[in-house]
Amino acid sequence: MASNSFSSEFGTTSSHNEEGSVVRVQQSTGLSGTVRVSGAKNSVLKIMAASLLAPGQYVLNNVPHIADVKWMANLLETMGASISHQKDVMQIEIPEEMTPIAPYELVERMRASIVVLGPLLARFGKAKVSVPGGDDFGHRPIDMHLKGLEELGVSFTNSHGYIEGEVKKLVGGKVLLNFPSVGATENLLMAAVLAEGITVIENAAREPEIVDLVYFLNSMGAQITGEGTSTIQIEGVGHLSPVEHTVIPDRIEAATYIAALGMAGGQIVIEEARLEHMEMLAEKLHEMGIEIGQVDGGISVCVSKRLRSVDLATLPYPGVATDYKPFIVALLSISDGVGIVTENIFAGRFRYVDELIRMGADIRAEGHHAVVRGVERLSGAPVRAPDIRAGAALVLAGLAAEGETLVGAASHIERGYQNLVGNLSSLGAKIELVNHQSI
Ligand code: UD1
Repeated sequence: MASNSFSSEFGTTSSHNEEGSVVRVQQSTGLSGTVRVSGAKNSVLKIMAASLLAPGQYVLNNVPHIADVKWMANLLETMGASISHQKDVMQIEIPEEMTPIAPYELVERMRASIVVLGPLLARFGKAKVSVPGGDDFGHRPIDMHLKGLEELGVSFTNSHGYIEGEVKKLVGGKVLLNFPSVGATENLLMAAVLAEGITVIENAAREPEIVDLVYFLNSMGAQITGEGTSTIQIEGVGHLSPVEHTVIPDRIEAATYIAALGMAGGQIVIEEARLEHMEMLAEKLHEMGIEIGQVDGGISVCVSKRLRSVDLATLPYPGVATDYKPFIVALLSISDGVGIVTENIFAGRFRYVDELIRMGADIRAEGHHAVVRGVERLSGAPVRAPDIRAGAALVLAGLAAEGETLVGAASHIERGYQNLVGNLSSLGAKIELVNHQSI
């Protein structure tokens, strides 16, 4: 079972203390070598949920050993699935009979669990899912998920912290999202594939992870067109079958290594990374002075001098993703000049700024904006990872900081990276994972 075979560079997750591990980073210069990115977290979680749509045996390749994948596996197992995860191959056995309930204990751990709602309603006509609360990004509503599913005929009731949906037969319709929400687009896709008639999602999210999900659904027998554009059309089918699928590479992990180079300088190759999934980001980073190019089997990155500051605004894909922003704020904190960063997706996503300030950064953040004045040097300090990407950004800041940086609550980083510490170390960074007690 997934829970037994799960392990990572951090050790077996189930047995390690949530707050116990700390990443120790020393100033590092001149990274070199080759690193390989894992399968995309934000893709595999949704594809695992999509397996609920048809009984049988699925094989997923390029599945990373990260905590969020383990939680999604636990969630599917709670409903009746059997899962094994050996190396990067996951096998999922979905039975005929299942319990379409996503309990509080699991949804609370991983907000992305909400994407089981669409496939459960499509397959069983009912679902009971704990309402996800807010998180480190701030307020995270699911109104668009629910409104869209109501357009397809679902009725919802909300009691005791759970949302319960019921529908006799899903019927296709037109759904206009008032924001291109990734999660709402995914839930609607996974419901509409088995609905009667045609569904059109207008103002749909266009992320590569949505395209990967559509590729998976179409290979199961779904009839979806327009993925990667703002209008997705789904013609409902009566039957889907299990398949084998290879998950796309993680563009956010790739961006993490690019940013590591921006902090420490040097030249590396990131295997599997696809420039076509991160064009706007690459353009911004190029403006800052990072040389990025597609090579056979990956991308090459070179940084030979101090970076220049730029202004930046996060936007839905193909704009610069909100998940990249903590890395860019870390880069700006030591770049030449002043950069203004605007967050357009999640209002509260500047929590790590205070930690960077502890390291000597000159940043003023208010509401959706941060003004980052580049300083000559950061200085190492104990800090705390508030979430996955912000935690990684603090590790990156440690590469450029004089002395030692200790990034606490490293379990947050583990939620999204299979081997961040090991990979950075293999590129020459002075970094290790230590137990809280041994510091
Ligand atoms: C996904 C990603 C996350 C990324 C985000 C935006 C996963 C597991 N997570 O999150 O890493 O940062 O996309 O690229 O794939 N909103 C509403 N009502 C809704 C749904 C969303 O108001 O019903 C708002 C959110 O509060 C936010 C914005 O829409 O302001 C975007 O959210 P969304 O695209 O849905 O993000 P997630 O799918 O949760």
